[in-house]
Amino acid sequence: MGDYKRTDLGGLTVGRGIHALSLSKVFKESGVQIYKGVFVGENPNFEGPCILGKPPRGKNEGELETHIGNNCLIRPFTTIYAGNVIGDSFETGQGCSIREGNLIGNNVRIGTLAVLEFGNNIGNNVRIHTGCFLEMVTVEDNVFIGPNVIFTDDPHPPCPRYKECVGGAVVKAFARIGANSTILPGVVIGRNALIGAGSVVTKDVPDNTVVAGNPARFIKYLDDLKCFKNFFEKPYSNYREDRDG
Ligand SMILES: CC(C)(COP(=O)(O)OP(=O)(O)OC[C@H]1O[C@@H](n2cnc3c(N)ncnc32)[C@H](O)[C@@H]1OP(=O)(O)O)[C@@H](O)C(=O)NCCC(=O)NCCS
Repeated sequence: MGDYKRTDLGGLTVGRGIHALSLSKVFKESGVQIYKGVFVGENPNFEGPCILGKPPRGKNEGELETHIGNNCLIRPFTTIYAGNVIGDSFETGQGCSIREGNLIGNNVRIGTLAVLEFGNNIGNNVRIHTGCFLEMVTVEDNVFIGPNVIFTDDPHPPCPRYKECVGGAVVKAFARIGANSTILPGVVIGRNALIGAGSVVTKDVPDNTVVAGNPARFIKYLDDLKCFKNFFEKPYSNYREDRDG
């Protein structure tokens, strides 16, 4: 993550919207609970009640650091565990849970009630919509993940060694995943691919293709999509240059 002016909040319970970290303006009754080892950039906005830097099971307070860049907006009932590194302009919806060991880029938005379990690696400009579940997933830049998309990472649950097994999916840059899809462990979703709503993705998806159904199958190329209203020459045509690169 880039350099930013960090302030150690030092385990304080601080007030709603502590803009510019003027701790003299802190209101203790707000319900924003910040554990030791939390560092944030400029202009944070924490809407209480929320919890930042909670030590995961087996760790003591302050043992793992938590870094959040500039201009974050953390909405009520979000819990961010200790041991995360998060970029600038991070935004959560209400009731998000973010476990330890996530690496999150800039301009990432996590929707209401979404859950990031441990070990996700998320790029820049990523939207993870309401109610999603991700664990050990790699998400490249400019990916859109629709509502209630579930990523799985244990092929034969509950396996005691699943973390060493197939692992989570990889979602390549500019891919979009339709609502209510389920992505099976270790699948690679190609660059600029589109997953239809309600799909179960059981195997790798080639770049620039549209797949849908259970199991998800090729239905067309992205270039074959039509904009029903003719607002655009083609859906996603603004990404063509990137796609060719
Ligand atoms: C995948 C998608 C983009 C395809 O749109 P499209 O190009 O207009 O699709 P078409 O109407 O040409 O459908 C082609 C075929 O695929 C089928 N199909 C389309 N979407 C499907 C889906 N999600 N699941 C299963 N089959 C699907 C159609 O029934 C059709 O089958 P047929 O040829 O047997 O009649 C669209 O259906 C979709 O799912 N979009 C994602 C919506 C979403 O989740 N948005 C999230 C943000 S709110």
